[in-house]
Amino acid sequence: MSLFISLTLNGEAREVSIDDPRVTLLDLLRERLALPGTKKGCDRGQCGACTVLVNGRRANACLMLAAGLDGAEITTIEGLARGEDLHPVQAAFIEHDGFQCGYCTPGQIMSAVGLIAEGDAGSDPERIREGMSGNICRCGAYHGITLAVQEASR
Ligand code: FES
Repeated sequence: MSLFISLTLNGEAREVSIDDPRVTLLDLLRERLALPGTKKGCDRGQCGACTVLVNGRRANACLMLAAGLDGAEITTIEGLARGEDLHPVQAAFIEHDGFQCGYCTPGQIMSAVGLIAEGDAGSDPERIREGMSGNICRCGAYHGITLAVQEASR
């Protein structure tokens, strides 16, 4: 038996059918809503690759059951750019080489957008690193990531 939930997904109202109450928001996005920009790394809340915004706050999509999100507003990496115009955080990541292989980048960018919106980024590199500490980069692109968040939070 399917359950239906209402979401605002990247600004668009959606009615979504959930056929398995155990499906996570991450799997819903990637496998059922064709939004693969949100990445699966650890699938257990340890790497931050799956970071999205839920009602404006950062969340690990792998830790959330989709069935509990009726009425929620979800923003994924696909929802940031406006046509050809990148979000300022996306542009800052390019400007400062805030990535290497790119796998963690959607989660890093969503986390940075959330951190800045929370007003907790500031310009202090230590504070930014602390605020971004839930997002792991195996390539070690932390210097560029920190510079990007610094610039985007100005
Ligand atoms: Fe969700 Fe790693 S995939 S935190």
